[in-house]
This record gives sequence, C-alpha cells and structure tokens, in this order.
Amino acid sequence: MKSQKITVAGGGVLGTQIGLMCAYAGKDVTFWLRSESSIGRTQPKIERYSNLMLEDLAKAKALVGSPMGAFVYPKGLIRDWKSATAESIDALIETAKKNFAEHVHIELDLAKAVADADIVIESMTENPEAKIGMYNALKDVMPEKTLLFTNSSTMLPSTFQSYTGRPEKYCAVHFANTIWKNNTAEIMGHAGTSEETFKAAVAFADEINMIPLELHKEQPGYILNSMLVPFLSAAQALWANGVADVPTIDKTWELATGAPAGPFKILDIVGLETAYNINQMKPDAQVEGSLTNRLGKLLKEKIDKGETGVNAGKGFYDYTK
Ligand SMILES: NC(=O)c1ccc[n+]([C@@H]2O[C@H](COP(=O)([O-])OP(=O)(O)OC[C@H]3O[C@@H](n4cnc5c(N)ncnc54)[C@H](O)[C@@H]3O)[C@@H](O)[C@H]2O)c1
Repeated sequence: MKSQKITVAGGGVLGTQIGLMCAYAGKDVTFWLRSESSIGRTQPKIERYSNLMLEDLAKAKALVGSPMGAFVYPKGLIRDWKSATAESIDALIETAKKNFAEHVHIELDLAKAVADADIVIESMTENPEAKIGMYNALKDVMPEKTLLFTNSSTMLPSTFQSYTGRPEKYCAVHFANTIWKNNTAEIMGHAGTSEETFKAAVAFADEINMIPLELHKEQPGYILNSMLVPFLSAAQALWANGVADVPTIDKTWELATGAPAGPFKILDIVGLETAYNINQMKPDAQVEGSLTNRLGKLLKEKIDKGETGVNAGKGFYDYTK
C-alpha cells in the first residue's frame, strides 16, 4: 500500500522542499512547526520553492525537442521526459498548483500533525539534542503504523534509533538541495531497520520522483559526500598550497573528465561557510601553519568579504556579471 499521508518535522530549506515534492507527487502533506514565528519563516519558503518548481516546469516547455533538454530538465518534476510535450507539461503545472493549494497543511500541535501519518520525515536542524528531543516527543504520539525517516546529512540513524521507540521502522532517507532537479534519495538503515521499512523507503522515494540510492550499511556522509568531501578537500589543498590557481584547477578537472563543473564551482554552490565549517572540524584546524589552518584563513578572508558563493553573487567566481 502506498504511503499517502506524510508529515515533515522542520520547515527549513530542505524540509520545505521535501514536503512540496511529496505534495507535487500527490501526497497529503503536513508540516509540523514549533511556533507561530516558525510559520512566519516557513510560509515564505513554501511560496518560494513552489514558485521555483512551477517556473522550472514552465521553462522545461522550451526544452522539449532540444538536444540539451534531456540533460537539464527538472528530473523530479517530469518522470517521463521522452514523451513530454508542452501540453503534458501544462497539465503537470495545473496539477501541481492544485496539489500545492489543497494538500499542503501546517500544524503546530505535534499530536495532530502526526495523528494519521504513514510517514514522518524529520528534517530539523543538524543538532543531536534537537533531534533527540524531537524523537522523544514523537514516539508518544505517532501511530503504530508510522515509519520515521531522517534527512540528517552528517549523523547516523544508529545514533538516534533508541530514542524513536520504533527502531525497526526508522532509517535515513537523505535528499539533496533543489530536490526537484537533483532528485536523489540516499537510503540508509541502521542494523535494526527492518527489511520491510527499507523497502518502503525505496518505494516511497520512487513515488515522489526521486531516484532511490540504496546503501547496504551505515556510512557517514552516505555515498555522495564520502566521495565529494575528499575531492573538494584535495582541490582546496592545491589552492592553499599555491600549486595552481582556482580557474586552472577547475579547468583541469573539467577538461580531463568532461564534468560540467570543477571543484571550486561546486564549492560556490555548496557555499564557502559550509566548506569553512567542515575544514574547522579537522583536528589540526588551530595548529598554526598547518594546511588546514592556512586553508581556514583563506576561506575566512573570502567569507568576511561576503564572498560566500553563488547565493551571495560572488565566491570563487563572480556571478554578478
Ligand atoms: N541544506 C541542505 O542542503 C541539506 C541537504 C540534505 C540534508 N539536509 C539535512 O536536512 C536537515 C535540515 O536542514 P536544513 O538545511 O533544512 O536546515 P534549516 O536550518 O533550513 O531548517 C531547520 C528547521 O528545523 C527547525 N528546528 C530547529 N530546532 C528545532 C527544534 N528544537 N524543534 C523543532 N524544530 C526545530 C527550524 O525551525 C527549521 O525549520 C538537517 O538534518 C540537514 O543535515 C540539508
């Protein structure tokens, strides 16, 4: 049986996108938020992301029939690109508008928010105490049937399973930012996740137009960040050691591998603050003269100038021109 009622705990950047993606795919979605002031912060995000999804659908009409279309169409919004037409995309836009208007709810009362939920997706601040507090509160009010997924990027489900009251129904389903375009769902259980739950997570991801990527065991950073973080660190080390400049490092990667973006273009998308925070977590970050320490200073210099990446208009590259 398909999971139809989805509750998203946390109305931040990712929580909002996940909820809208579920509604887009025809699920009934409730955002559970902490307070009236949270509504004031989440409502504009709901509007912003739903508008972006609708705009990307409208833009996709111009891509129908173009050779580039298959590479750049919003994969989470259009399941079958090969048979897409301007008319079929118009129909998707109309359905999306209806779904966003009718199937997105906000609820401050946690018990009410999860009363009939098939799935609760926890997408709260990456703070273990906040997540534990959430699980403790949830376990007393979730119906027996409810599956519980976490979208945590850096923490493992085994860390929290004992607080959920339903370890066998708990696993990680990790989405990517701009979910409607980057439609991956990394699915990772802990040792006590039941096979049934894991399969349900895979099926759910598919139902909301994600590509399910199954992990067979727990791995900090899942699949993507296990590769991406060392790759970006290697590029930053080349820069901090003065081996080559930023455009040359990017060009080398792009020309040699055919990748559309080199590491510093990716860092501009990720944001330099995130790169800095990851760097500062390394044990030698405070060791004067160490590579990590020097890199931290270089990143901080750019951050202090407001050059934090694409969102700021400037990072390693200038996006204002
Ligand atoms: N931002 C990304 O690119 C990204 C990508 C994949 C996964 N994630 C994961 O998604 C989760 C949320 O990240 P985000 O970027 O949306 O963060 P965010 O800061 O935009 O949103 C966090 C939300 O949690 C709520 N919150 C914080 N403390 C709370 C509490 N004690 N009780 C209830 N609600 C509380 C906030 O009000 C906010 O709505 C994190 O686990 C993160 O690792 C983020």
